Amino acid sequence: MATPSSDAASLSRRTHNCGELRPDDAGATVVLQGWVDSVRDNGGVIFLLVRDRYGVTQVTVDDRCGETAWEGARAARLEYVVEVHGTAQLRDGGANKDMPTGAIEVLAGSVRILSSTKPLPFVIGSGGKGADASEEVRLTYRYLDLRRPEMQQRLFVRHKAYQVTRKYLDGHGFTEVETPILNKSTPEGARDYLVPSRVHAGEWFALPQSPQIFKQILMISGFDRYFQICKCFRDEDLRADRQPEFTQIDIEISFATWPLVHELMSGLVRSLWKEIKGVEVGEIPILTYAEAIARFGVDNPDVRFALEHVTLDWASTEFRVVAGALETGGIAKGFVVPGGADRASRKTIDAWTEFVRRYRLGGLLWGKVQDDGSWSGPLSKVEPALLAQLGAGPGDLALVAAGPATHVHTGLGRLRAHVARELDLIPSDTYGFVWVTAFPAFEQDEESGRWVAVHHPFTKPLDEHIPLMGTDRMGEVLSDAYDIVCNGYEIGGGSIRIHDQALQSKVFASLGLSEDEARHKFGFLLDALSYGAPPHGGLAFGFDRIVMLLSGTENIRDVIAFPKTTTAQDLMAGSPSTVDAAQLAELHVKNTV
Ligand code: AMO
Repeated sequence: MATPSSDAASLSRRTHNCGELRPDDAGATVVLQGWVDSVRDNGGVIFLLVRDRYGVTQVTVDDRCGETAWEGARAARLEYVVEVHGTAQLRDGGANKDMPTGAIEVLAGSVRILSSTKPLPFVIGSGGKGADASEEVRLTYRYLDLRRPEMQQRLFVRHKAYQVTRKYLDGHGFTEVETPILNKSTPEGARDYLVPSRVHAGEWFALPQSPQIFKQILMISGFDRYFQICKCFRDEDLRADRQPEFTQIDIEISFATWPLVHELMSGLVRSLWKEIKGVEVGEIPILTYAEAIARFGVDNPDVRFALEHVTLDWASTEFRVVAGALETGGIAKGFVVPGGADRASRKTIDAWTEFVRRYRLGGLLWGKVQDDGSWSGPLSKVEPALLAQLGAGPGDLALVAAGPATHVHTGLGRLRAHVARELDLIPSDTYGFVWVTAFPAFEQDEESGRWVAVHHPFTKPLDEHIPLMGTDRMGEVLSDAYDIVCNGYEIGGGSIRIHDQALQSKVFASLGLSEDEARHKFGFLLDALSYGAPPHGGLAFGFDRIVMLLSGTENIRDVIAFPKTTTAQDLMAGSPSTVDAAQLAELHVKNTV
């Protein structure tokens, strides 16, 4: 990485950055500029650590130094900006092996204060406790939070990820194209952020939930391979891995097939992990949606650990709790925690039972296998021949749930990850990737009963399922859609698209969209599709989530310079905020609150 010390001397006062001096520099006359990271005043000697984005260097002021050095060093406080002139020399008392510059100290000729600071809301420097401050305080003073080396490191990872992405995609024939931010509503299923038009009274732009339609149009225009690292905006409930304004690596490929997408996009993931983490990702396994649900209960499985689900054929059981659920069309599933009998107390299992209730399961059945093969716990009431399906052995714990299929899958799926975390079964510093394919194309909205697209309505149903659309077997239609998952996070998703105008209209109709509505919302895409559209497909990666994984944090806000809170506010800038009545009037908008 180019560092400012390579600037010509006439351009910069500093001769070195704060992470640069090594034993070979002993004897050099140096000028450093940076923030005071720590001050140690031992009476006869003052040690200052001076920090910039490249590192920290020790500056020493002792009886060899003159008054200008002493005056500045005595005045220096944490986070003051200083300029130090001095001589690099090998440290008196030997090197500090924990610091890259630890062999050297700068004996100060002068210490000049360039800038002072108000009292700090939290400590920032290397020994600092910035991370202990509440996130609210950190976000309010984001300029100070971002000064912390840990936060800077994450943004350097992000920077590297942009570079690796651009290099890889450029090398594979992709052209970077920008698409509009002032947009028409796009169908990714969240609420839109809307922007009123001043010029066209009563009309609104929507901020893009993704560039989906534009990238398809670029394929129709013949660009063949497109990408964009772009902002997307979705007004939805926020979580640790979601932001209202987030970044995608958006990709579209003409004449695409799923195997081609798989090959090219697995390659991008391999490059990112190799160049940033030095990790060889290897072949990424593929699961169908049905397999993912059967084995892990969720479509974004964390495959770093086992605890795989077993679907239980317990129709013949006399055990009422299970028999009752099966008789009413439900299912029974379970999983085994090897060696879990000793590790999970009654209290722990009770807490897990409460946990699965959040996912609408009535409860959790458990059993521990004793040394002699007998069972204790509620599952001991189940016939031994049926229990054998779980495959548990002495010392193991088995957890079983019965009820409506969706509740059992989700409840046990979330429990699987929860148990792995609580019992520390997830190997650290490992990455478990998996592609999930063949998703259901449509799902029924629980409240309205309307069919909605699981991905978006431009996703191509599998050819053999097209005749089922619009029939009472709509729920069985699978699509040529795929997600890529890492450590249980969905880091990307996409599909092969519909490139036939008639099929696109048929999908809109199956989703209950009248011809007029379809034309109003997506007329320009339908028109474009009728002018020689190539088969195409693509996907979008969640860039922030990828950086989160690459920098080892579980909080998406840690990898975004200026993120929003979980209530969609920017605490530093104070947005959203009220605006002048005159400005609203110009936009033909009236506040109702
Ligand atoms: P999708 O909606 O699945 O697909 O989004 C793609 C990826 O973007 C990430 N993501 C988010 N990251 C942070 N905050 C959010 N609110 C958020 N929402 C989504 C996820 C997700 O996998 N146009 C399609 C792509 C396509 O079909 O090509 C799309 O946007 O990692």
